[in-house]
Amino acid sequence: MEEFFCKTRLICGSGAVSALGSLGGTRLFLVTDPFFAKNGMAHRVAEAAKCGQVEIFDKVQPDPTVELAAEGTARLREFQPDLLVALGGGSAMDCAKAMAYFAKGSYTLAAIPTTSGSGSEVTDFAILTHNRVKHPLVDPRLRPDVAILDSNFLQELPKGLIAETGFDVLTHSLEAYVARDAGAVTDLLAREAFSSAFAALPASYAGNTAVRLKVHLAASLAGMAFTQAGLGLCHAMAHSLGGMFHVPHGRLNAILLPSVIGCNAHAAGKKYAELARAAGMGGSADTIALRNLKNGLIRLRRELNLPETLSQAGVDPRSVWRNAGEIVAATLADPCCKSNPMEAEDFLVRRILEEVTGRV
Ligand SMILES: NC(=O)c1ccc[n+]([C@@H]2O[C@H](COP(=O)([O-])OP(=O)(O)OC[C@H]3O[C@@H](n4cnc5c(N)ncnc54)[C@H](O)[C@@H]3O)[C@@H](O)[C@H]2O)c1
Ligand SMILES: [Fe+2]
Repeated sequence: MEEFFCKTRLICGSGAVSALGSLGGTRLFLVTDPFFAKNGMAHRVAEAAKCGQVEIFDKVQPDPTVELAAEGTARLREFQPDLLVALGGGSAMDCAKAMAYFAKGSYTLAAIPTTSGSGSEVTDFAILTHNRVKHPLVDPRLRPDVAILDSNFLQELPKGLIAETGFDVLTHSLEAYVARDAGAVTDLLAREAFSSAFAALPASYAGNTAVRLKVHLAASLAGMAFTQAGLGLCHAMAHSLGGMFHVPHGRLNAILLPSVIGCNAHAAGKKYAELARAAGMGGSADTIALRNLKNGLIRLRRELNLPETLSQAGVDPRSVWRNAGEIVAATLADPCCKSNPMEAEDFLVRRILEEVTGRV
């Protein structure tokens, strides 16, 4: 039996942000990062909400820390809004979600993603960093009430961000598709998200703004899929390496994903082959489709100018091996491991580390 539930109201299209004005808020607390405070976007979004009282918390940095979330929680408790809006990428949305969770107030939480990646606008996840370790909070109370997918925020996306966050969408959909808790509904969402993002990313990267809403939608569909089905070893390793070396999340997924597919192939070969066929990379035999999937992702990674190894991403392999025990332990403790199609074990994580540090 499978039950699928998504409480988030999805509003999408050009100018969708104007829907904030119909949410009935009178006291708005807006969480964002300094980029959107400086370029005036935070103020424009606040105006769209038509609230009499407004406070803007604009201190979010990539990979928000527990300390930052605690500071925001205190401000939130003091201000007591009836509308809480998160504007930004996964970091701003996760920070706002965690703040709402800790503050335990009663307000409408609306998320406005400005990257097409994390899917945080529809998920039960919020990732906070503490002492160089990324901790995924997972709770249904973290799921936003409203997600606003407005294509106007995507017109000026930098190429590097399109590439990194695009690989996050591909990884979410691929991991959800082969996850232990995948079901018929999450498979539909994950398959559509994967093939749609895989097809549209090269054009979006090349500057075609018309396809960007497709990738944006794919990010939300992938979020709906993985929040129910779970993720896998690629995310567990991206969390442990990201906490330690502070490399952008999507860039780490791009480096790790082909190796993770290779390791999981034994348990998930058939489903990987299905996904390859859905995205037009098939082959009649499952083994060929699986090889095409891996090669297709490696080709796309090159086309999007993403690194292939950790050293190309600026991480010294010697520092990885010096900290290997800690990296392996954090990976195996990460909740994403539980839904990986194969049991994640010490030797598997080390084998992937060897591949991504260029030891093999
Ligand atoms: N909650 C979840 O379900 C979930 C899932 C995956 C990842 N995450 C987390 O999300 C974070 C990554 O989020 P992200 O990849 O969206 O990046 P991000 O939010 O960390 O932002 C990265 C940078 O891009 C800038 N930026 C954002 N939107 C922009 C735009 N439209 N134009 C120009 N610059 C822009 C930001 O100012 C920031 O400097 C990680 O911490 C990751 O762990 C959460
Ligand atoms: Fe992710």
